[in-house]
Amino acid sequence: MGPETAFRLDGRTAIVTGAGSGIGRATATLFHEVGARVLFADIDEDAVRAAAQAVGADWAVCDIADEAQVAALYERAAGLLGPRLDVLANVAAYRRKADTMTMPASEWDAMHAVTARGTFLMMRGAIHVMREQPDGGAIVNVSSVSAVRPTIFSNMHYDSAKAGVDAMTRAAAIEFAPHRIRVNSVQPGGTASDGSARMKSELPPAGPMVQPGRMPLRRLSEPVEQARAILFLASPAAAYITGQHLAVDGGYLVS
Ligand SMILES: NC(=O)c1ccc[n+]([C@@H]2O[C@H](COP(=O)([O-])OP(=O)(O)OC[C@H]3O[C@@H](n4cnc5c(N)ncnc54)[C@H](O)[C@@H]3O)[C@@H](O)[C@H]2O)c1
Repeated sequence: MGPETAFRLDGRTAIVTGAGSGIGRATATLFHEVGARVLFADIDEDAVRAAAQAVGADWAVCDIADEAQVAALYERAAGLLGPRLDVLANVAAYRRKADTMTMPASEWDAMHAVTARGTFLMMRGAIHVMREQPDGGAIVNVSSVSAVRPTIFSNMHYDSAKAGVDAMTRAAAIEFAPHRIRVNSVQPGGTASDGSARMKSELPPAGPMVQPGRMPLRRLSEPVEQARAILFLASPAAAYITGQHLAVDGGYLVS
């Protein structure tokens, strides 16, 4: 396979969660552009419809925290895309800051219900399909640099859930390697998405990653820069890569 095909997804099928906004939308759109048949999935119906219709792709509404809705999503995917599933990009997450000393346990649980349990439920649904395929499949989870190094304060529940995403990535990579299923994660650094803009208006963004100027590359990333890394890990170009975490962070983790 030459480089002109190794980085593409021609003829492959893919589900992208969080596809209504930011990195998820950029990822689903890029997958479509490089030849995949993509199901855009998100909890926000208006957003996911608009994102999918912009490129003429299929879309579905799903709360990834809800087991029954995830099962229904996979049924819908089979109906729309056919019995094969080649790629799952798990981009959706719960993103709301909460003060460490006063956050109610319900906020902690809401974070983990979406970001940890939702990622797990989506992975398990994909593996059910992929392990029946002789050539397996590829799963890319989106975690965060904050799984490794704190970024902003009032985000401890998020850091915990994202560390869980990376732990699940490693565990699934080992457990399902015999089925030729590769599982990796992308760890974005600060990215200029709608979600980030919303979070800025919540609690004060104190913490080590306060300003774009603190990044070695002196700027935030664009969602499409995260999408390109997700595409790489999902594509045949990454055929021998599994269980890895790729920081796309302008140098934050090594600074
Ligand atoms: N933007 C950043 O700076 C940054 C940094 C590190 C990691 N990340 C991660 O990248 C991913 C995308 O972030 P973004 O900035 O593009 O976010 P965003 O808020 O712009 O988009 C997130 C999307 O996920 C959807 N979503 C939320 N809860 C859901 C649920 N329960 N079920 C289905 N969909 C749901 C939302 O409706 C939204 O469309 C997230 O996993 C986030 O944690 C982002």
